[in-house]
Amino acid sequence: MTRSIRPLVAGNWKMNGLQSVLAEFDLMGAGNDVCIRRSVDLMICPPATLISALAHAAIGQGIAIGAQDCHSKDNGAHTGDISAQMLADAGASAVIVGHSERRADHGETDASVRLKAEAAYRNGLMAIICVGETRAERVAGKTLAVVRRQLKGSVPDGMTARDIVIAYEPVWAIGTGLTPTAKDVEEVHALIRADLKKIVGKDEAQKVRILYGGSVKPSNARELMSVANVDGALVGGASLKAEDFLGIAAAFH
Ligand code: PGA
Repeated sequence: MTRSIRPLVAGNWKMNGLQSVLAEFDLMGAGNDVCIRRSVDLMICPPATLISALAHAAIGQGIAIGAQDCHSKDNGAHTGDISAQMLADAGASAVIVGHSERRADHGETDASVRLKAEAAYRNGLMAIICVGETRAERVAGKTLAVVRRQLKGSVPDGMTARDIVIAYEPVWAIGTGLTPTAKDVEEVHALIRADLKKIVGKDEAQKVRILYGGSVKPSNARELMSVANVDGALVGGASLKAEDFLGIAAAFH
């Protein structure tokens, strides 16, 4: 399949990973062969404690390092928080914002996600902005309305395709082994592409990468990644093992 957009496979390690995981990361670098490098960008988003070490280990490996969240301010009296400026300083080149686990666990709203995406932009980080409906919202037939509202509220104006990536992650598919049908994914991704035109303009909207996330694994990656307007994957559980992560990346060649 010929792609006009260079795909991205990003691993979200969530709250997993101690210093000992460096060995697994080295395996990812070693397995990132010329076939994969030619066809897809790879990124790992470890917990903040590992960003600096992995950014160092990633030199020459063709794997970018991202973070999982940032504060909307660059510094100040915010105990326990980490700013986009600090993440960039530690070696991250991107940050996930608005993941459904942050929206649910920390009450993050579209407005706060948008401020975080702006902070990422200010500090030269690409923002991976997550949207996606819950099981109840899907059952109630509200999927498209929810995604639309999240997109409109969470994506800052004036962004380019270098500044943002959108990740569509149905909440009910995360960590459950369940995935939407290819047709359902296609419908939502087409809607995201169309709505992005109104937010970032027609030309940039054609270039923004729209990732699918939620129970992506080597066995279903090829099917999911061949859906129209799916420009890569945001991978949780399966990104913790080099073999699985690279197996997903292999879906692109
Ligand atoms: P999963 O997580 O691949 O384990 O379902 C995806 C995510 O939350 O980004």
